[in-house]
Amino acid sequence: MSHRSDDLDCNSSNNEHFQQVLDRGLASPSRRSLLRGGIGLGAVASLPMVAGCSDGDVPTLSAPSTPLGFSAVAKSIADQVSVPSGYTVRVLHATGDRLDSALPAYSNAGLETDDWSRRVGDHHDGMDIFYVGSNGKYSRSATMRAVLAVNHESSADAHFFHPKGQTSKGVNGKKFSQFGDWDLGARPELEALKEINHHGVSIVELSLDTAGRPTGYLLDSPLNRRVTAQTVCRIAGPAAHLNDIKQFMATKYDPTGGSARGTLNNCGHGITPWGTYLGCEENWAVYFQIPTTGKAADTKLTASRARYGVARAPLSATATAGTGQGWHTVSSSDDRFARWNVSADGANAAADFRNEPNTFGYNVEIDPLDPTSTPAKRVAMGRFAHEGAWFSLPQAGKPLAVYMGCDSRNEYIYKFVTAQNWSASDIGGGMAAGDKYLNEGKLYVAKFNSDGSGEWIELDINNPMIKGYSAYSFTNQADVYVNARHAADAVGATKMDRPEWGAVNPANGDVYFTLTNNSSANRTPATVNAANPRSYADPDGNKGSGNPNGHIIRFAEEGAAANAIKFRWDIFLFGAEEDSVGNVNLSGLTAANSFSSPDGLWFSPSTGICWIQTDDGAFTDETNCMLLAAIPGQVGDGRNIVIDNELSGARGQQATFIGAALGEARLRRFLTGPKGCEVTGITETADGKTIFVNIQHPGENTPAIGTAADFAYQSVWPTNGGGITAGAYGPGKRPRSATLIISRTDGGKIGL
Ligand code: FEO
Ligand code: CA
Ligand code: CA
Repeated sequence: MSHRSDDLDCNSSNNEHFQQVLDRGLASPSRRSLLRGGIGLGAVASLPMVAGCSDGDVPTLSAPSTPLGFSAVAKSIADQVSVPSGYTVRVLHATGDRLDSALPAYSNAGLETDDWSRRVGDHHDGMDIFYVGSNGKYSRSATMRAVLAVNHESSADAHFFHPKGQTSKGVNGKKFSQFGDWDLGARPELEALKEINHHGVSIVELSLDTAGRPTGYLLDSPLNRRVTAQTVCRIAGPAAHLNDIKQFMATKYDPTGGSARGTLNNCGHGITPWGTYLGCEENWAVYFQIPTTGKAADTKLTASRARYGVARAPLSATATAGTGQGWHTVSSSDDRFARWNVSADGANAAADFRNEPNTFGYNVEIDPLDPTSTPAKRVAMGRFAHEGAWFSLPQAGKPLAVYMGCDSRNEYIYKFVTAQNWSASDIGGGMAAGDKYLNEGKLYVAKFNSDGSGEWIELDINNPMIKGYSAYSFTNQADVYVNARHAADAVGATKMDRPEWGAVNPANGDVYFTLTNNSSANRTPATVNAANPRSYADPDGNKGSGNPNGHIIRFAEEGAAANAIKFRWDIFLFGAEEDSVGNVNLSGLTAANSFSSPDGLWFSPSTGICWIQTDDGAFTDETNCMLLAAIPGQVGDGRNIVIDNELSGARGQQATFIGAALGEARLRRFLTGPKGCEVTGITETADGKTIFVNIQHPGENTPAIGTAADFAYQSVWPTNGGGITAGAYGPGKRPRSATLIISRTDGGKIGL
């Protein structure tokens, strides 16, 4: 997503700093021997593999033998999509496209008078395809009817939905600020409705030709659906704790806490083995406001909010004032708007909306093939800034693991292990199957040790470290779910460099996570750790320092078991500009595969290719964001290294583990996007011959100026037709997020 809000660092715990890493036994003689290395390639030295790596616990697989079958796409700052020759690019849909023919086609000039609840949302992000069997249920074998579910992440570009931008009453002369102060007046109802409803998830039925190839989407399909920030959801959780959970959710809307309205900031996603969709709530914390006249919450709720970034200074001068979109200022007796003001103004929690933020931050399960089904918020999977949710390879009779990242600086990687064992008879089971697998289970957080091992620590109220935690007093297990970040702090989880997407290698079950980047405040030579080992300055100063280019970590569960409590890890790839020095460009990237800030991540089941997408601000002087194809090996296929960190005159050595070098043969840039975009979200048709790729917020840096009738556009894609085989898409000039359909002119599988 855009970096404005997920750059928040709300983790002030003391977990995992360098001294602790040293104390746990980094081999100091090896470190000393490497101090001679100096800067450059000589600073990166191989050490003998430590015990614990490649000892046979991970499956022994050689890398896929089929080489990548396309020529690398060059870096590009053009306002277009670029793909290898021999590929075609079409637009499936873009921000504002209608679901029903009864609505007018999108104006792309802010002229819509409908409330956007039957239009495609904005900021296309995670997505997946669901094939429909003859019985109307999800099918793994049907290929002639399908829907595509797409997350719509954020409203950073909300100014494009209105004729001249957002009507703001911002203080200090601010106008059209993304998340500003809105205390001085009311926003128009239609503006707020459009903004509330372009969040959430869109589901459209694909039009498929006789060979099952997607050609577009079907207007008026009964399967077309929007889930928005207003859609009623069920609060779901373990039977033993559900009543306690509901206590945290009680609002004026539903004093029982059994339901809540809407889903927000759906970023990455998940697809369940039984065929439902998880829309994962990421930066929901920034949508609420406590006006300066509002009453603050009690100490415990305030401590909870502080850890999640709700109503957080310093965006306003006072500690209790919040951020939000100003939706609460709409003059209406309808509490659809009042609910965004989370002041504790009522007699109790059931008389106001102080608990509204507790109802966000979950994996929201949606049955994309049943438009009448009620989405469920799966509370047992924890509340945090959910980037996405990725399942282990299902094994009959064994539990399922779901891997999840919390996307903010210094946050954690979690996993949920189902209490129920997997049965393929649940495929097509819809929300009932979700109730079976996603309510009861154990929630863990990851700790990455300096010797290449790792452990999953259960977030259980009976753990003395949680029960006795001084920074936040937990009431019960429900409190542990709802305040999972605090619980993870309590058990000493490893602070990561902003966990974004995860992915599970279908060839061997290895779990991959992008760690997109981190700032100088969080990664100095003294605060790196083995799993987040770099601290350096962006060579051209574009994005400061810390870990500006990010990396991709991966791990293998002990015994390849979903419910393992131990794993081994290494670092698959380090992002870098190709001309960076050797202690930064550790993966030996070249002009054909250099990248920065990995974010989206996905393995194609058809080809085994690991696809990597970027959301970057460090390399954007040389290239727009991109999609790369990688042929990975396995955890432990590389070597031990020691990185010579240097930043602002401070120096330090950090040992870590790097995967086998891929080279241009096994890592190539496949696509570059238009200006100001993030490339995120990818899936494919069952035959692997078409991929869908999302372009999010092209023209993100277009100034949201006040009274002008038009904007000073950073990008005018897709209206300029840049890189789209059929040419210009849609009217006007305003940039739009979009889903691309990419296929080969010769009909072959993508990437091979
Ligand atoms: Fe929505 Fe974590 O990017
Ligand atoms: Ca993301
Ligand atoms: Ca740079």
